[in-house]
Amino acid sequence: MSQLLEMLGCQYPIIQGPIGELYDPAMVAAVSEAGAFGVLALGFVSDVEQVRTLVARVRELTDKPFGANLMISMNPNNDAILEILHDAGVRTVTTSAGSPKKIYPKIKELGMQGLHVSLSAPLAVKSVQAGADGVVVSGTESGGLRTVGPESTNFILIPLTCDLVDAPVVAAGGIADKRGYRAALALGAQGVQIGTAFLAAEESPACQAWKEAIMGCGDAGTVRVPLGPMAMRAIINPKLGDLLTKGADISKEYNLMNAGQAWRGGDFDLFPAGAGQVSALISKVRPVKDIIQEMVS
Ligand SMILES: Cc1cc2nc3c(=O)[nH]c(=O)nc-3n(C[C@H](O)[C@H](O)[C@H](O)COP(=O)(O)O)c2cc1C
Repeated sequence: MSQLLEMLGCQYPIIQGPIGELYDPAMVAAVSEAGAFGVLALGFVSDVEQVRTLVARVRELTDKPFGANLMISMNPNNDAILEILHDAGVRTVTTSAGSPKKIYPKIKELGMQGLHVSLSAPLAVKSVQAGADGVVVSGTESGGLRTVGPESTNFILIPLTCDLVDAPVVAAGGIADKRGYRAALALGAQGVQIGTAFLAAEESPACQAWKEAIMGCGDAGTVRVPLGPMAMRAIINPKLGDLLTKGADISKEYNLMNAGQAWRGGDFDLFPAGAGQVSALISKVRPVKDIIQEMVS
């Protein structure tokens, strides 16, 4: 058994990628019940009572292992949240968006383990030095928050990171089926993290317009939308396409604070639909179980 599967305790080395404010216990349980590692996205949930309720609800729906994602610099209550997770029997978490130095001492104190999301190989090395038990490396093709600077694709990032760190490496970005899954493992990753493909799944709490935007997205249909010091990969719609053609300063056109509202209601002029380049490979809304079974087949 790989070190990663020992850490996760599930059947397949497939981790549910957290998606902003989408923290539906039923979706987490569906992923875990299908043999992968369901992850409750707690980056934006700072109310500890709400965390307690969400974690208990996942536990009611599945007795399989699941984890949670903690966004280090976004949530002031991560220490209390880790204690709730620990008491509920969660052994492994993923961490992102902040310095791992701030959270790994607490993770270790509780006897838990964590995988830190890193957007480059040097950051993956630093994450392990700061106490992370493994890394999720996220190539430029991934959905979610990105940098505005140069980035590598997973074809470079996975083997490079595997050469540099002595810990399990998970690949995030560009994976929606067994071809991507096998490629990631062939490049040295012990597992994969799936964002966009699960976002478009039948059980996903994403609104229908968001799922349709993913299914309608073709080759080169996403772009990194600059937002000051960082960027968000999103699907190019007519408004964003127009701004790109005009060479407009896109960072002045969108505010990340509007993303939650835009995505909940499907108003992609307010903020374009977040998704990875892999959207081009997704043409059907399918149950999580079918996505996972095809991937490991
Ligand atoms: C709309 C959107 C929101 C995301 N939000 C988060 C987040 O809150 N925290 C996080 O660690 N990763 C976040 N991610 C990254 C995913 O968890 C995952 O690593 C990434 O989507 C993998 O790439 P893929 O979309 O090609 O599968 C987000 C991704 C998307 C598409």
